[in-house]
Amino acid sequence: MIWPAEAIWESVVPLLPGFTVEVLPEIDSTNTELMRRARQGQVAPVLLVAERQSAGRGRLGRQWDSDTQGAGGTLTFSLGLPLEPLDWSGLSLAVGLSVVDSLHLELRLKWPNDVWLHERKLAGILIETASVGEVRYAVIGIGINISTPAQAGLRTPAAALRELLPQAQAPAVLEQLVLPLVHAIARFAQNGFAPLRQPFHARDLLYGREVTCSDGMSGVARGVDAQGALLVHTAQGLKKIASAEVSVRPAAPPLA
Ligand code: BTN
Repeated sequence: MIWPAEAIWESVVPLLPGFTVEVLPEIDSTNTELMRRARQGQVAPVLLVAERQSAGRGRLGRQWDSDTQGAGGTLTFSLGLPLEPLDWSGLSLAVGLSVVDSLHLELRLKWPNDVWLHERKLAGILIETASVGEVRYAVIGIGINISTPAQAGLRTPAAALRELLPQAQAPAVLEQLVLPLVHAIARFAQNGFAPLRQPFHARDLLYGREVTCSDGMSGVARGVDAQGALLVHTAQGLKKIASAEVSVRPAAPPLA
């Protein structure tokens, strides 16, 4: 596969001095690799793309299935960079918003940052941080199904970008995503999540729907607060879910 590494590098390096782009045919996980490097003191901004991951990781300790469709069936990459936002809360939502805004109007976000197409998951985001001396280093990992993945073991079958954009190719999708993502992260570092609350609501898959949370709570989702916490209207009143350790499931979609 031919990757637009140079074009991405040229567009991003003015914003992130010292930025590099690296494409590997295979690695365990682009997040794991950048976290390993950070622990060894490597904290320069980097985009690491893998054509295949042998041990891709998802949120909540889940695995992120490796590409079973041949190279290009999924796009998997991580952006590592030193980050000093005034407030970290809402970063994952800001990243998700940038991804959907770059990809397609029909995509929605399932709190905190899963990308869904109609009623199925299309992409996932895993953000990890490391403290390296005085520096906080963020690793923002994104996995996007480009073509239809194997369905084995998934409760809800996954969606793929080619259902919306039949010509979609992983390298071009990467190029479309990275510069807006870097801008979005820089804006977030300056302004926090609050200005993104309304844009998030416009993309919110859960808004107004019955949801069940993994901690047993259920109610009607009412969007997010200015820090990106999920608001759920329950029998006991309005509750906030701030912890990304909690997963949220929507009830069946409303009938059209
Ligand atoms: C999730 O849906 O729970 C998050 C999935 C994140 C997957 C991406 S693929 C690139 C990066 N490397 C990983 O091991 N995980 C993230």
